[in-house]
Amino acid sequence: MSLAGWYHSGDGSSRPNARKDQVHLYGKVALVTGAANGIGRAISERFVAEGVRLVALDVDGDQVEVVARQLAARGDVEAIAGDIARREDVARAVARCVDRFGGLDILAANAGIADAQPFLEIDDRSWRRIIDVNLSGTFQCIQEAARVMAPARRGAIVVTSSTNAFYVETNMAHYNASKGGVVALVRSAALDLGAYGIRVNAVEPSMVRTRAAFITEDPVGGPEYLKRVPLGRFAEPAEVAGAVAFLASDEASYVTGQTLVLDGGLTLGVNLPLPHAPLPGSARESQA
Ligand SMILES: NC(=O)c1ccc[n+]([C@@H]2O[C@H](COP(=O)([O-])OP(=O)(O)OC[C@H]3O[C@@H](n4cnc5c(N)ncnc54)[C@H](O)[C@@H]3O)[C@@H](O)[C@H]2O)c1
Repeated sequence: MSLAGWYHSGDGSSRPNARKDQVHLYGKVALVTGAANGIGRAISERFVAEGVRLVALDVDGDQVEVVARQLAARGDVEAIAGDIARREDVARAVARCVDRFGGLDILAANAGIADAQPFLEIDDRSWRRIIDVNLSGTFQCIQEAARVMAPARRGAIVVTSSTNAFYVETNMAHYNASKGGVVALVRSAALDLGAYGIRVNAVEPSMVRTRAAFITEDPVGGPEYLKRVPLGRFAEPAEVAGAVAFLASDEASYVTGQTLVLDGGLTLGVNLPLPHAPLPGSARESQA
């Protein structure tokens, strides 16, 4: 048998499907929230490809079942229907990781919702639901996961925040505020949980091609938006999954409390046109 493409672990065992070029995730147990679509689905696919055993949680129970069935051909995956804004649903998903796989090594706290409403028209129901899911729900996921990780004295938590945490968009005050809160939450959790060997980090994507990012499919707004993106394109969900896999892996073993921006350069700075002449006082002007 050829050993090409097989990774030999320190304990001498050969691990099928885990290649040397992959990050070190093989055999770990993960909970992924928002796993039925978009970024969460891509994280789940990436984890399974890396040999991670998975509980996939989503409020859309039918769709997460479909995803889990597809992934089950390649790995160990269980779907759970649940709402991260409900503590009992989160606790049930964490308990399932322990019951089925014997523990929990990784939480990808990815589930989130958005809405676009003018500031003056944001109603209390919309505000509360976005904060309940994106901020309180994420807090509950981190806390329930960490309660299992702490006794084991290890764990990696990666939260999907957004560039909206600092580079805010119009008509999205509730979403912007929730993602800004998530960054402070990640830093707080990292500070408090470091003593238990638990790392907590975040990814901050800008515009990713999922159903939630309507502008990516807008024939007018899309190209207009891309004029401000140095890389000239939107992100793919798999690119966010790659960053999550890195932060969840032992490759990032000394990284905690950080946010990794994935924006194709969008938030780096302002695009200025070239002036017609050298600027006053410059070396080029004095030569002219
Ligand atoms: N798409 C983007 O451009 C973008 C950019 C930055 C950040 N994000 C963040 O990435 C995350 C995933 O977004 P996406 O673009 O993949 O969206 P998506 O709508 O494609 O997928 C989100 C998934 O989360 C699930 N979900 C929603 N509320 C839930 C709840 N209360 N409990 C459990 N599951 C729930 C949905 O059913 C869905 O399957 C979100 O936190 C979002 O804010 C997205």
